[in-house]
Amino acid sequence: MKGIILIAGAGTRLYPLTKMVNKPLLPVYDKPMLYYPLSTLMLFGIRDILVICAPKDLENLKKVFGDGSELGLNMSFAVQEKPRGIADAFLIGEDFIAGDEVCLILGDNIFYMGDNIEPFRKEIAANEGATVFGFRVCDPERFGVVEFDENFKALSLEEKPKQPKSNYAVVGLYFYKPDVVEKAKRLTPSARGELEITDINKMYLEEKKLNVVVMRRGNAWLDAGTPETLSEASQFVEIVEKRQGLKISCIEEIAFRRGFIDNRQMEKLIEQSPKGTEYRAYLQRVYEEYKS
Ligand code: DAU
Repeated sequence: MKGIILIAGAGTRLYPLTKMVNKPLLPVYDKPMLYYPLSTLMLFGIRDILVICAPKDLENLKKVFGDGSELGLNMSFAVQEKPRGIADAFLIGEDFIAGDEVCLILGDNIFYMGDNIEPFRKEIAANEGATVFGFRVCDPERFGVVEFDENFKALSLEEKPKQPKSNYAVVGLYFYKPDVVEKAKRLTPSARGELEITDINKMYLEEKKLNVVVMRRGNAWLDAGTPETLSEASQFVEIVEKRQGLKISCIEEIAFRRGFIDNRQMEKLIEQSPKGTEYRAYLQRVYEEYKS
């Protein structure tokens, strides 16, 4: 399965933070924003990753992440010239997807799922169509909203409805079959001028090929697209990390513990991180605990 991280929006809601710093590199507590969606893909076992970013962010991102091989990944980058909508990712990424299954994650969506990842993975593998996730929120009108029947089977989907039919938002993490590219080609822009991801999901729903999995209590879903939510996401990460002494979305740790890199490569990554830092001490601790 391929993975796409879409982080190409104009970042205007974060202005003036984004005046100098590329949005994907803005700090969410102790790491750049892009580490979070990247680590979610890694936790799902996805190693072929395309990052779609704004033209002004491309060079810096390439510098920071390279080709991903240091983490046992195969990373590439593409540009979305204008924010034409989330589903545009499948048109930009057509050659990269190359007839494979694909997971799309929005670059400012932050997930904390812990051990719940494994049941989700099984559910995705067993499903013959698309898999998306519903998450209960207080303000569903800000999102794509899914309506369920009494057995939690999806009945309808609406993008930012004025009168939401439920409190369940569709989160920015989507798993599709190869036919998603052909579906994206059939889309026309919505009233707000975007190729809507909700329209793709509606196509799967009409074909009875959409599985909406509810992320229940014990999972966290945050976004970091406004100054307020960026600050809240930072606080969440800080509180959990300080309490547990375990990091959220430490990409080196995930690469090592998932077996994407071996002992030698982990030693190299530790060597590369600045001496005397808390991050280096953390990597060293992970290495001592899990080295083979
Ligand atoms: O966060 C989940 C929600 O994301 C879903 O519930 C909605 O169904 C979905 O449409 C989307 O809602 P928003 O309209 O709030 O997404 P937003 O425009 O904030 O974009 C989300 C991320 O995707 C953001 O990091 C920017 C990036 N993006 C967005 C568009 C429209 C792009 O890179 N290119 C684009 O063309």
